[in-house]
Amino acid sequence: MGSDPIFSPIGVFDSGVGGLSILRALRAELPYERFVYLADSGHAPYGERGDAHVVARSRLLSAWLRQHHQIKALVVACNTATAAAIHLLRAEHPALPIVGVEPAIKPAIAQSKTKRIAVLATRGTLASEKFNTLLASLANQATFVCQPCDGLADAIEQGTQTGDATEIEALCAHYTRVTGQFGIKEGEIDTLVLGCTHYPFASALLQTLVGQSVILLETGAPVARQTRQLLGDAGLLSVSAPRGSGIDLLTTGSADTLQAAAQRWLALEAPAQNLSI
Ligand code: DGL
Repeated sequence: MGSDPIFSPIGVFDSGVGGLSILRALRAELPYERFVYLADSGHAPYGERGDAHVVARSRLLSAWLRQHHQIKALVVACNTATAAAIHLLRAEHPALPIVGVEPAIKPAIAQSKTKRIAVLATRGTLASEKFNTLLASLANQATFVCQPCDGLADAIEQGTQTGDATEIEALCAHYTRVTGQFGIKEGEIDTLVLGCTHYPFASALLQTLVGQSVILLETGAPVARQTRQLLGDAGLLSVSAPRGSGIDLLTTGSADTLQAAAQRWLALEAPAQNLSI
């Protein structure tokens, strides 16, 4: 390779555009880093397709990012992929700093007063051993209402493409209604954990549905801080190099969708490219 790995990019992947909510936080925390964002929209949604699919795709994308972009660190910007595959990715790439995303249930306990907390996530995340082990370790500190939101990540993906939010609105209204009573009175759910990286892009709508007094938690900022920490520990943190345009946007689905999402949510003007992997 020859070039200093400090100048290599950080790889970030998700099943689609959702991981842009993590990329947004990464860019804010790490202004001198370059990123390669890979949206696996052609093989999404992950949350409803079972572990074998998610593991196979996560392994393939990670190996591809290493081989084609010599990434110096990897952020798995997807709760479902983190739950299913991060232990395997760490075993396969022992020298690579790898950061995952999981629902912010510990911070939720710290912030909740009623100690009734809702977690909206994919079916895959909520069924995973990783999530259930975490939940069991905290079960005596709060009551958790976990709601799988089939179709919501996909609707957010489609909505980006078409600009039509009808399906997103219907699903958010349905899932918040079946989750329970939100509010700050005793017995009400006062904290809502967004356990899928797509959902922050519906957070304004969700906030309206559950009421302004309910706390919404997402994971971008802590993931970005953790990435900074790991890069620093490994001597790989770029502290002064100009980033320039610094972002490659790649997708196994529609390049127009990823480009539109990056423009809308990150004010990023970078072009997106389609890949067949
Ligand atoms: N964005 C992903 C997550 O955080 C999954 C969405 C999906 O493909 O089901 O879990």
